[in-house]
Amino acid sequence: MTASPEQRILLVIGGGIAAYKTLDLTRHLRERGFFVRAVMTEAAQHFVTKLAVESLTGNRVFDDLFALTEDSSMGHIELSRDADLLVVAPATADILAKMAHGLAGDLASTLLLATDKKILAAPAMNLRMWLHPATQRNADILQKDGVAFVGPEDGEMACGEYGPGRMSEPLAILAAIEQVLATDTRIPLPTDLSGHQEPRGALAGRRVLVTSGPTQEPIDPVRYIANRSSGKQGHAIAAAAAAAGADVVLVSGPVALADPLGGRTIHVKTAREMLRQVEAALPVDIFIGVAAVADWRAAETAPEKIKKDPKQPLCLTLVENPDILAAMGRRSKDRPALVVGFAAESEQLIENAQAKLMVKNCDMIVANDVSKTSGVLGGENNKVLILTKKGKESWPWMTKQEVARRLVARLGTMLAETGR
Ligand code: C5P
Repeated sequence: MTASPEQRILLVIGGGIAAYKTLDLTRHLRERGFFVRAVMTEAAQHFVTKLAVESLTGNRVFDDLFALTEDSSMGHIELSRDADLLVVAPATADILAKMAHGLAGDLASTLLLATDKKILAAPAMNLRMWLHPATQRNADILQKDGVAFVGPEDGEMACGEYGPGRMSEPLAILAAIEQVLATDTRIPLPTDLSGHQEPRGALAGRRVLVTSGPTQEPIDPVRYIANRSSGKQGHAIAAAAAAAGADVVLVSGPVALADPLGGRTIHVKTAREMLRQVEAALPVDIFIGVAAVADWRAAETAPEKIKKDPKQPLCLTLVENPDILAAMGRRSKDRPALVVGFAAESEQLIENAQAKLMVKNCDMIVANDVSKTSGVLGGENNKVLILTKKGKESWPWMTKQEVARRLVARLGTMLAETGR
């Protein structure tokens, strides 16, 4: 995806060894067409130079709170509000503590306090520092304040210890940035002075269950049957539903994507595991089956790696997997108020999607063309046809995030119409 020209990122670089990864993040952001401005803390400049950051962002780096009063410079309010999103990477224990407690002793913390835009933090620190109750408390406060987090990941630290604390990889941060930008980027002001906020949005207070990605069906301990689903559309829908105030459970097959922000993600491999987790998440108001569930699995999984035999071909017997969408559509006791399926077809799109609407007892089918020439599978854009029992509607080409946003808005209206 290429960012629309107005998308502006203010990168706040904290003082940690992970700052070198922020250089790579900057490069990816620029490649995607983002305008990037950076602010560095004093500590950050021990790890990467201002010159490197200026070369990669193509913009002057800001680091001095008091220099901002110079005529040639921007005021700190202007600097923090000029961006669409503030990204703190690496977000050190020190920056998180300052943010959680509203300290504003340097330029970075002042901008983070003065902004009215959404903030995404990518923590990076030693695992003991991350696991310390003080840092956990601060992260909790910030999450409640509406700050989005990506990572930290488990892994080996620069100091040789192993555990949570590694900053997420640049591509995972980039995915999180795109997700946050695809949702509301303003921090809502508290509704009353106690700071209490009711969840708001088209799906506030609703429970939404989404499946995403492919499934992997084992043949033996090393081989499996799968498909080309990337999970991008399903993950975007889960993120959009969370942004619309829903309590979201995402059951995902194996994908190379970061878990969406907001909600809970459960990772599964096979169709049967996916069905089990979907049933465990009931009752919900809306079920959206986006996963490309493998239709078949091997009748038997070989306990050891199957050996080649030049004398005879290998015959696999495949049996049908449970149909999760149909199972949700046909439930009697706790059927979700809305059951939504996807129909990925490479021919006879409308006829096949219409049949699915009836056979699987869905309230909506989102049909898309996945023929080789469409570029939908694994791509960033989608062109969908919406089918309900009332009729059909064709949407133009748009990003998968935009499809997700519109779909969520539509489902909010449909749910209200059911009166449940
Ligand atoms: O029948 P088909 O696989 O084309 O149907 C696609 C829709 O059904 C998608 O919404 C997909 O998530 C769902 N599905 C499912 N379980 C299966 C097969 C498909 O939930 N075993």
